[in-house]
Amino acid sequence: MVDLTLPREERTLERTRRDGRPAAGVAVFARGSAGLERPAFFLQEGHFGNTMSSVLITGCNRGLGLELVRQLLLHPQAPSVLIATCRKPEDAHALQTLAKAHSQLYVLKLEVNDFSSYDAFAQTVKSIVGDKGLNVLINNAGILLQNHSSFSNCTVESLTDTYVTNTVGPIMLVKALRPLLKLAADSNADLPMGWSRAAIINMSSGLGSVGNNTLGSYFGYRESKAALNTATRSMSYELGPQNIFVLSMHPGWVQTDLGTSQAPLTVEQSISGMLAVFFSMKPEQHGAFLHWDGKEGIW
Ligand SMILES: NC(=O)c1ccc[n+]([C@@H]2O[C@H](COP(=O)([O-])OP(=O)(O)OC[C@H]3O[C@@H](n4cnc5c(N)ncnc54)[C@H](OP(=O)(O)O)[C@@H]3O)[C@@H](O)[C@H]2O)c1
Repeated sequence: MVDLTLPREERTLERTRRDGRPAAGVAVFARGSAGLERPAFFLQEGHFGNTMSSVLITGCNRGLGLELVRQLLLHPQAPSVLIATCRKPEDAHALQTLAKAHSQLYVLKLEVNDFSSYDAFAQTVKSIVGDKGLNVLINNAGILLQNHSSFSNCTVESLTDTYVTNTVGPIMLVKALRPLLKLAADSNADLPMGWSRAAIINMSSGLGSVGNNTLGSYFGYRESKAALNTATRSMSYELGPQNIFVLSMHPGWVQTDLGTSQAPLTVEQSISGMLAVFFSMKPEQHGAFLHWDGKEGIW
């Protein structure tokens, strides 16, 4: 594993590249702040036999999306194409820095509420992934309007905006990218359903759980994530026959702008936990609601 305790900006990797990835059978080193090198992970020959070729993540300017990009780029089974979307690529400095160091990273503009841009966006994605299609879509972009989340403060606008971003966006993006996901599912017919073949991850929340709602509040956010969970289950019936795997994930309560500094989990912990779940997905988890540590969520 990559040593994630190293300062981010100093986690420079010495990579021997082959086909855009570290060559199999070589040690990959991370450089620490004192200039000391230590093995970050060792790649076995044949390690890439089950590697998916493309992942697309929304909302990568900061928070969980940005950390997903960081960790996926350093993962022993890093995808050969990683598409990170954000609202303003010109201002997404952390992403742009990563893109300079990793040729497989594409930074694309996507405002998830701008549905009129989806057709052109899907065409751009198609031009990047080609005939292999898109293996994984992670619907990560989301909002929690803290100042409008109590019953007394919520408004028509806050409820509607939250629903449009957190629920309508993911559903419509799946519709727009479905042909590319199907292409990946069809072109990997020898693989079981899951992450390596074709998968959709909807970033949900424990606050979307109806069964676990013992405190109330978070108006707009709770309903939007409960609706997203329902969409995950419906998509599993719609897309399962096309061998496209669908999952709702709760990343835990995490230290991001949305989660606040009071959260118990760091982004590093949440994302490394979720990646472990993604890389070990089983076909029987299709349509499930899982937590970042692999435990089953309560609907
Ligand atoms: N952190 C937690 O504790 C927690 C817990 C449960 C679930 N989640 C879920 O995890 C996901 C990521 O949350 P986070 O904690 O990383 O939040 P965050 O730090 O606030 O980041 C949210 C990301 O979503 C993007 N975004 C928001 N609205 C968008 C839109 N209309 N179009 C495109 N991008 C948009 C933001 O872009 P800008 O930078 O341009 O604003 C930002 O990159 C969300 O779906 C959230 O609901 C988080």
